[in-house]
Amino acid sequence: MAHQQTELELQAAQMIPTADEVAGIFAVQTHDHKKSDAQYAHVMDNLGFGIDFTDYMAHATWTEPEGWHNKVIEPYGPLSLDPGSSVLHYGQEVFEGLKAYRHADGSIWTFRPSYNAVRLNYSSGRLAIPELPVDDFLASIVDLIRMDQRWVPEGEGTSLYLRPFIIASESFLGVRAASRYEYVVIASPSGPYFAHGFQPIDVWVDQKYHRAGPGGMGDAKTGGNYAASLLPKIEAHHHGFDEVMFLDAQTNSNVDELGGMNVFIVMADGSVKTPKLTGNILPGGTRSSIIQFLEDERIAVEEATINIDWLVDGLRSGEVKEVFACGTAAVVTAIGRIAGENFDITIPTGDMTRHVYDELTSIQLGKAEDRFGWLYKISE
Ligand code: COI
Repeated sequence: MAHQQTELELQAAQMIPTADEVAGIFAVQTHDHKKSDAQYAHVMDNLGFGIDFTDYMAHATWTEPEGWHNKVIEPYGPLSLDPGSSVLHYGQEVFEGLKAYRHADGSIWTFRPSYNAVRLNYSSGRLAIPELPVDDFLASIVDLIRMDQRWVPEGEGTSLYLRPFIIASESFLGVRAASRYEYVVIASPSGPYFAHGFQPIDVWVDQKYHRAGPGGMGDAKTGGNYAASLLPKIEAHHHGFDEVMFLDAQTNSNVDELGGMNVFIVMADGSVKTPKLTGNILPGGTRSSIIQFLEDERIAVEEATINIDWLVDGLRSGEVKEVFACGTAAVVTAIGRIAGENFDITIPTGDMTRHVYDELTSIQLGKAEDRFGWLYKISE
């Protein structure tokens, strides 16, 4: 059955203002403590992922009754936070990840920022955090990038990774939703998420730990889900694996996601499957884009329950040809080995994984037609 647009996709597809229309909502506080030319050159010549940050950050505060106010682009630097701030104790926070790309003509673009804006609000709803107007989200991105333009790298696999987040900043130790929040966007000039670039990763299928359970927060982008994935990841690293594949908590037998990435499998007949959104899986923007452009190319995509035994059997029989992971940070990554308690299978990288990577990055970098209207121009 063809993909049914999700509520997030429908909301994200609504008309949004242009960058010029929202520019200036965040007032700029210029400063003289920018990174030196030598520091700048060092960072841009040695791009890692999420290691170095730019000269500015966006910041706004929410209180009752003012709502979101004090919207500024301020010098990048430490936040002043009371040690009693409830985020430090109960983890009331949400975040997003999106990228700005420099096209060949020097112009700067982001990709589906409205999806991130509406997903941030979805996550906030689950964490009892007040919504941020979509225009404020867009303005924070536009105003920040326009001040930090020099940090948008050019070249294959590079981007300015943007990390919007909201934290509960009220100093109060009772367990209830806070009455004060900080919205912050930081930006990090980045190369590939995996230091080894477009190399297949080895994945451990974990049947001991889960990242989320029914009725939990698995489909919200909140730090707690990522914290839950860290110990399993350390244990997997000890056994020589790069990432962990989590199974559903209810049956311990169906593929959920990798913790920071969604999963796709490619069948021998050329069709594609991905775990359906059960409420425990992050509704990834990259996942959504891949489903839409593959269907547009007349490739059948099924959002399905993917039983791990069925997947293992399919890989052994050749019915399943490729497995790949995707996310904003990592883009598209082939899974080259998948192992669990009683199986260990090597998977050759196939054409579909490469095709999906090429198609997605070509749209993002302005090399292919933007046939879905996903690109959002920040500056010439
Ligand atoms: C992203 O892909 O942007 C993510 O948020 C995954 C990870 C870096 C947390």
